[in-house]
Amino acid sequence: MLTYFIIIVLTLGVIGVYITNSMRQYNLNQKKIQILSQANVIAGYISQYQDLSDKSINYLLEQQQIDSRSRVLMLDKDARVMYDSNNGIMQGKLMPTAAILDAIDGNNNVEQLTDADDELIICAAVPIIEHKAVTGVIYYQASAADTVDFMNQIFATMLMLTILVSIIIGVVSFIMSGIITEPIRSLTEKLSKAAEENTDYIIEKDTGGEIGQLIDSFNKMTRQIQIQETKRQEFVSNASHELKTPLSSIKLISDSLLNVQDAPREMVDEFLTDMNVQVDRLTRIVDKLLTLTRMDNSAVVSRMEFAVTDITELCTNIAKALRPLAEQKHIELSCNADTPVYSKIERDRMWEAIYNVLDNSIKYTKEGGSVSLNVTKDENSVIIEISDTGIGIASEELYKIFDRFYRVDKARSRETGGTGLGLSIALTAVELHGGNIHVESEEGRGSTFRIIIPITFK
Ligand SMILES: Nc1ncnc2c1ncn2[C@@H]1O[C@H](COP(=O)(O)OP(=O)(O)O)[C@@H](O)[C@H]1O
Ligand SMILES: [Mg+2]
Repeated sequence: MLTYFIIIVLTLGVIGVYITNSMRQYNLNQKKIQILSQANVIAGYISQYQDLSDKSINYLLEQQQIDSRSRVLMLDKDARVMYDSNNGIMQGKLMPTAAILDAIDGNNNVEQLTDADDELIICAAVPIIEHKAVTGVIYYQASAADTVDFMNQIFATMLMLTILVSIIIGVVSFIMSGIITEPIRSLTEKLSKAAEENTDYIIEKDTGGEIGQLIDSFNKMTRQIQIQETKRQEFVSNASHELKTPLSSIKLISDSLLNVQDAPREMVDEFLTDMNVQVDRLTRIVDKLLTLTRMDNSAVVSRMEFAVTDITELCTNIAKALRPLAEQKHIELSCNADTPVYSKIERDRMWEAIYNVLDNSIKYTKEGGSVSLNVTKDENSVIIEISDTGIGIASEELYKIFDRFYRVDKARSRETGGTGLGLSIALTAVELHGGNIHVESEEGRGSTFRIIIPITFK
């Protein structure tokens, strides 16, 4: 506001000075023209009546309404003063000034001077011409005090106006700055208070307008952070728990082994086999975690190699890889993928995503059920649909199954070697390709997972 105020006052000042200066110049020029033409009129009269007496000249000047403060001199062509309206003081004296000599040469002359009282005077020297010959000079001196007074008056008015406008703008600026900054100040206060109290960063919204929008955005951001923070805490506690379970088993087994003296070979073998299973489980969890964190890391992602790949062929191979598992459970696995669909993908990530979803369908379908994999294509995306006649997922669980370590039935999942990371990995991989996964499911009837990936060659 101060800057704004200074700029306006400066601009006003500059404009004021400019206007008064141009007006002064204009008025002075007008005055000069007026004096010059009056001098010419006098010279014209004088050239008409030759050998005029001082008295008749005085009369002539009166007729011309030459005021008493002005002074008129008549000189002959030798620059000698023949007549002086100021009581004849200069009469008979030579006055060869530059202007007068120039007038004798036949030119009009006008100049401005300041007299002893510092008053502005305008002097005109014009030739008296008779029969095309210069016979003398009229030297006419007039005060420009009226012009100067007028200009001073204008200057004073301008100054007054500038000061008045500055005061008004100053007051308005002051009030406006208060109105504008007050909400920002109060918001800043609330923000720092919220940060200090550190419990709930949500700020009470008590104003509308831009500040209200700002509060809304801030609160939205805070809620996002809170959601992320809750997810992070859950993830850490889940991860620790998942890692701890096999570790406790291993600890238990090794403790029991150490406690048995001279254990028989078969017992050692059995214990070591159990331990091996737990170590495998640990390795699986850690591998999957690494896969996830790698996909979270943008530097790693930027190094991934995307290549144009036939997705149909990819799906056929995944079905082939999982067929033994399906056969083991007497599940009918059908794969409807014939026409090639090409898109630029990261083959390993995409393999993992589809594999995890198909693996789930086989895992969470009872013996004798069926699982199908369909690959179709629409205008700009490829749709991989994986349906099963399995146990299904309750609708209130549907939005959680993509969370890291989330499993609907922990015991069953662990039995089947699940870690709860499969779907998170699948979704992260698909999102990496700009795609998405939709689920429809009915408990006891089965589920359908739809992986949608935009087709791209860039
Ligand atoms: N096709 C499906 N049918 C029923 N439940 C499923 C299916 N796919 C996933 N789920 C549920 O979602 C959970 C998360 O899946 P996932 O992340 O792959 O973990 P898991 O390692 O347990 O398979 C599973 O534990 C299971 O409860
Ligand atoms: Mg799984």
